[in-house]
Amino acid sequence: MSDTAQRRGNAPAGERVADWADGRLGIYGIGRKYMRKVFPDHWSFMLGEICLYSFIVIILTGVYLTFFFHPSMNEVVYDGSYAPMNGVRMSEAYASTLDISFDVRGGLLVRQIHHWAALIFLAAMFVHMMRHFFTGSFRKPREINWLIGFSLLALGLFEGLFGYSLPDDLLSGTGMRFLDGSLLAVPLVGTYLSMFFFGGEFPGHDMIPRIYSLHVLLIPGIMVALVVAHLIYVFYHKHTQWAGPGRTERNVVGAPFLPVYIAKAGGFFFLVFGVITLISAAVAINPVWVYGPYRADQVSTGAQPDWYLLFVEGMVRVMPGWDVTVGGYTLALGLLVPLIAFPVFLGFIAVYPFLESWITGDKREHHILDRPRNRPVRTAIGAAWISAFLILLAGGGNDIVATKLHLSINLITWAIRIGVFVVPPVVFVITKRICLGLQRRDREKVLHGRESGVIKRLPHGEFVEQHTPLSQTELHALTAHEQPRPLEAPPAEDENGVPAPVSRKERLRLRLSRAFYGAESQVPKPTPAEYKALHNGHEGAAHAEERAVLEREH
Ligand code: HEM
Ligand code: HEM
Repeated sequence: MSDTAQRRGNAPAGERVADWADGRLGIYGIGRKYMRKVFPDHWSFMLGEICLYSFIVIILTGVYLTFFFHPSMNEVVYDGSYAPMNGVRMSEAYASTLDISFDVRGGLLVRQIHHWAALIFLAAMFVHMMRHFFTGSFRKPREINWLIGFSLLALGLFEGLFGYSLPDDLLSGTGMRFLDGSLLAVPLVGTYLSMFFFGGEFPGHDMIPRIYSLHVLLIPGIMVALVVAHLIYVFYHKHTQWAGPGRTERNVVGAPFLPVYIAKAGGFFFLVFGVITLISAAVAINPVWVYGPYRADQVSTGAQPDWYLLFVEGMVRVMPGWDVTVGGYTLALGLLVPLIAFPVFLGFIAVYPFLESWITGDKREHHILDRPRNRPVRTAIGAAWISAFLILLAGGGNDIVATKLHLSINLITWAIRIGVFVVPPVVFVITKRICLGLQRRDREKVLHGRESGVIKRLPHGEFVEQHTPLSQTELHALTAHEQPRPLEAPPAEDENGVPAPVSRKERLRLRLSRAFYGAESQVPKPTPAEYKALHNGHEGAAHAEERAVLEREH
């Protein structure tokens, strides 16, 4: 036996298995390359992990549910443990959901975990997306990953819609009726689309099996592939990071994937799973036995989708039910307008990175994150978008708001109609002002230090507050950002003296660029000269007064 073979033979079992795998898969090379990948440490980077872990929980519980759920619309007479429903005619899908809830061991808990995990998954995606939006991590080279993430969000919305339609209870059928109405509102091809999707006239007999295939196979399959691509991109591009000493556009400062990050991530997975399970065990969600089986001729108040689609419901509820007839065709604007507004509203977020880079002309790579206050216009746009989302969300629950607050539903509907146009611009202006105020405060802090709260009385009776100088790390964080200039208008004439007119598109771009980076949108950060003038005693005239106070203090 050769030396190496003998050494291998004596090696621990784990090492031998690893050697075996390396001979076939080359895992040592992959490990050397990726196991030392560095992850920066910041709480906001855990939002992506919450998306990932809740998605895993959804898949695990979803597979368990498939063992007992019957995606069939065949009519059966219920005869199970839930006595109030005994003898009621219902679809097999609904009956099997009742069985999962009352007769399958752990079934109700798993159903609840699946549903709660779905709610948390979508919430985590929204927050994760907004953290990328506000910090500008969608900029080059991460635009494709932004679009992959956005596709995950869009698919998640439909996956949730189809999921809560599966039990075929009165609420879920109402959701499908909503979808049917929207399809029918599409001009010219609406009826074909509806017939095609439902396999005949709504609700038909194919609806549940069809959305089942979409829910457990097609959409999750695409989502898993996209999540893998998303994470490969995160590895490939490396992580963005906050500005700080030693952190540049070319490095990443943080802990290595193995062993630090993997240990943290493993623990965090169980924490997420545990919290979802705890909520699911304690708080009821979607008690389908209360609603009864779906019947196309019935609907109740309080029929809302899950929170993430409530804004779409809101669009439909607040849109007046106008119909117009064009060329003999009736357009149901009450549904058609929301049908167009929904992708436009959501799509704005998807295309935002491209819009911003076109406006600002910034085509460079960025790996250092922006502090939201240093990009007031972007931050204000994000806040305005969120405010519109929340107002529409409230519109989706107008009946609940009316009954809980004892208000007229018409009053609420009008408040939402007006609010959705008025509130976002107001939020925009206020957010921008807050950002500029914060920039001013940062400037003060850099130049004069932090307010210490210690008030000193000078010998001649004047009171002054003492300021504590910032550490080098803090100074760096507050001054590391760039302050880009708006685009310059091209010369009115070319080099031959021929007038070079600026196109209307270009004029719009110049105006928007000024709005983004003009004097109105940023407070000049302190220059090294200003800082030195205050701290080294070479004060300029502007600082003479402050200097005098400082001198008096000493
Ligand atoms: C299934 C859903 C998703 C999962 C599992 C997921 C997971 C992750 C993880 C683990 C990271 C690295 C850690 C972090 O920065 O938080 C990440 C980064 C990223 N995600 Fe997601 N994400 C999802 C959805 C989204 C959505 C909806 C968007 C935006 C529309 C998005 C955009 C991004 C971007 C741009 C990065 C790179 C940022 C950077 O390097 O700092 N992701 N994602
Ligand atoms: C992002 C992915 C997913 C989301 C957002 C989601 C969401 C939902 C929701 C909200 C329900 C209704 C639960 C209830 O009865 O209260 C549901 C039902 C169901 N889901 Fe999912 N799901 C996802 C993925 C999956 C996967 C991957 C599977 C299986 C492989 C699955 C299988 C099922 C089954 C069988 C039901 C019907 C059982 C029941 O409602 O009790 N789901 N889903």
